[in-house]
Amino acid sequence: MTDLASRQVEVPEGVIDLGVGQPDASVLPIGLIEEAAIRALSTPDPEALLQYGADQGDGRHRLVLSRYLASAYGVDVHPAHLVTTNGTSQALDMICTRLTRPGDVVVVEEPTYFFALGIFADHGLEVVGVPMDDEGIDLVALETVLVESARRQTPARFVYTIPASQNPTGLTSSWDRRQELAEMADRHATLVVADEVYQLLHYVEGPPPPMSALVPSGSVISLGTFSKILAPGLRLGWAHTTPDLALHLAGSGLIASGGGLNPLVSGLVTEVIDRGDLAIHVDRLREEYQHRVEVMDQALRTEMPEHVTWSTPTGGYFFWLRLPEGTDGAEVRRRARHHDVDVREGNLFTTGGTLREYIRLSFAYYRGDDLVEGVSRLARALHSAL
Ligand SMILES: Cc1ncc(COP(=O)(O)O)c(C=O)c1O
Repeated sequence: MTDLASRQVEVPEGVIDLGVGQPDASVLPIGLIEEAAIRALSTPDPEALLQYGADQGDGRHRLVLSRYLASAYGVDVHPAHLVTTNGTSQALDMICTRLTRPGDVVVVEEPTYFFALGIFADHGLEVVGVPMDDEGIDLVALETVLVESARRQTPARFVYTIPASQNPTGLTSSWDRRQELAEMADRHATLVVADEVYQLLHYVEGPPPPMSALVPSGSVISLGTFSKILAPGLRLGWAHTTPDLALHLAGSGLIASGGGLNPLVSGLVTEVIDRGDLAIHVDRLREEYQHRVEVMDQALRTEMPEHVTWSTPTGGYFFWLRLPEGTDGAEVRRRARHHDVDVREGNLFTTGGTLREYIRLSFAYYRGDDLVEGVSRLARALHSAL
């Protein structure tokens, strides 16, 4: 990265970085945002967009968003339950600021989204990993951790889960597991923080209802973002929880001083939702990503050496590959770079380095031929590592 970089990731010329979990330029809705900006600034009260905003987020934005979520998720959503955020990353930071103190315990799935680990570290939290099985987080192991942390007088403040099309595994937790998780959190007087960034990006059939459906139980904060369904640069998302907790989250010193988060952008996005353009755009994204899943799946079937296994993702951005026994994902990544392709090694997503034999590939940043070429380069690197 140079000092004057504009993007988070700059992939060197000639390299195919299958590690990048971001949308490529072809799916960024530049026209929609441009039209929405013009409409938003022609509304009866355009000055509100340029003023300090309401603490919990602009009222009309939360109303329009609540209607969209109710229809997309099939659950009841009320604006009083929503807080505007700068996206899921900032929402996690806000939750840590408002609900934890340094030294507190938080529980994560193993593997988990590695940037969340950085946010928890910023707040001096002790992170405890709990394994997953093919239905979601292992509840027996979780209960042991919750009991043990309470016994040590450091009760877990929350359990962080990514229930739909998980990053990195692509796994969607079963509905039973989600319900039991919320019940267990309730019994142990802790919260579930459900990072639902991929909830709307499902390609095969609808995923189980979002954790938001369990918000009335009082033990769930469900996080959504426009990063995956419109554009990451908007830095806009929402937290969905009980009205009391929503007010508490929005009661930070930061918001008291700066007003609600991102009034201008939330005004633009309100226009995109209100005209029905978001729903149409999300349908297009699903179609495009489903196509990429098929392309990458076929390329993997053709190219991967024996004993490399994966489940075809039904949503989200990622393939999670299990390498032949004894193969080190970090070493495969090193070799892959010599072949001008990059991936992310499994251990990046762990707290304890327990997933050495895995790598994560993303299909979000490249289309057709590049995906096929990337997989072919990776296959060459893997053959040289086995
Ligand atoms: C699981 C997960 N959570 C959060 C984020 C970041 O979301 P946002 O852009 O809303 O901060 C990502 C982005 O890749 C993600 O995969």
